[in-house]
Amino acid sequence: MANNAPASRPANPRFSSGPCAKIPTFELTKLSDAALGRSHRAAIGKEKLKTAIEETREILGIPSEYKIGIVPASDTGAVEMAMWSMLGARKATMLAWESFGSGWVTDVVKQLKIDAEVKEAGYGEIVDFAEVDFNTDVVFTWNGTTSGVRVPNGDAIPADREGLTICDATSAAFAQDLPWDKLDVVTFSWQKVMGGEAAHGMLILSPRAVERLEAYTPAWPLPKIFRMTKGGKLIEGIFKGETINTPSMLAVEDYLVALDWARSVGGLKGLMARADANAKVIWDFCEANGWIANLAVDPATRSNTSVCLKFTDDRIKDGATFAKAVAKRLEKEGVALDIGAYRDAPAGLRIWCGATVETSDLEALMPWLAWAFEAEIEAQSETA
Ligand SMILES: Cc1ncc(COP(=O)(O)O)c(C=O)c1O
Repeated sequence: MANNAPASRPANPRFSSGPCAKIPTFELTKLSDAALGRSHRAAIGKEKLKTAIEETREILGIPSEYKIGIVPASDTGAVEMAMWSMLGARKATMLAWESFGSGWVTDVVKQLKIDAEVKEAGYGEIVDFAEVDFNTDVVFTWNGTTSGVRVPNGDAIPADREGLTICDATSAAFAQDLPWDKLDVVTFSWQKVMGGEAAHGMLILSPRAVERLEAYTPAWPLPKIFRMTKGGKLIEGIFKGETINTPSMLAVEDYLVALDWARSVGGLKGLMARADANAKVIWDFCEANGWIANLAVDPATRSNTSVCLKFTDDRIKDGATFAKAVAKRLEKEGVALDIGAYRDAPAGLRIWCGATVETSDLEALMPWLAWAFEAEIEAQSETA
């Protein structure tokens, strides 16, 4: 049967899992209000940083008693800041089911050398939260970007836990419900669901996390960009937009523009609905095609942002080569950019479905996926 290329193409082929597609209405001219060439400590800069914090609180529904800070070094900066400042006061439990979670395990076990229990699951699986001792400090990733597996809900996290929950939510925030009462530290970067820039991280602290910061001093030295307390008291300014060091006011403006757009599509509900509709396009495609499947084993844990896929056709001889060739073919056609699986993940594809991606673009991509699959199966038999 002739394998004809589909007639229509995604209007935007950007399906990268980070930096993710910019908002659909993005134009560089939208950043013309940026406070460029001005001090971030001048009234105009301070106001923009404060607005970024307040809008984040409002759209995500973050409780008023939680602190929100803009910190250096994207999501990694925010997670590191939390771990290095708070861990060590009690035993830790490290949960990992993909690459980024494993990175946090390495930091805690090998760098900080903290007494920690490590619970891991393979790509596609998740750790059983019912077996976690939440009287220890628990570090985990809400949405595993490299495996497409997410925590389905916070039900297993007790409200009366003694430990802190430190949650890397960078590919979940603005796409998935985060149970704030079950989370003491939440981090994310603007570059994911909001399609922003990666310069800064968001660090969100519960009152218990603040209590830990004020009551506990780690045994190791902390560099200036990690320090959130002075004389045993929280530096409140950090959580009002008085950043520790100089932020990019261009990135801040870009985030403000993205937040405006988020409101225009219905706020958090609208953003979540967009990600759900996007992911459903791919889930339905997997249902209809026996040669491709979600990497997430349990449907309850399937991500609606970083959808990870594996090829399951018996005719495929070398899984990694095949998946790379499919991604390359789609990139060459200009219909899908950056959709190869993460370097440490099992062979396959990863297609971003966060809110900035248009459902119609995913719908247009699916026939191309079938086309590229068939083309590679054919190419494989030709070289055999
Ligand atoms: C779950 C997770 N954690 C951390 C990071 C690192 O984020 P950043 O590069 O924004 O620091 C990523 C990036 O993809 C991620 O997906």
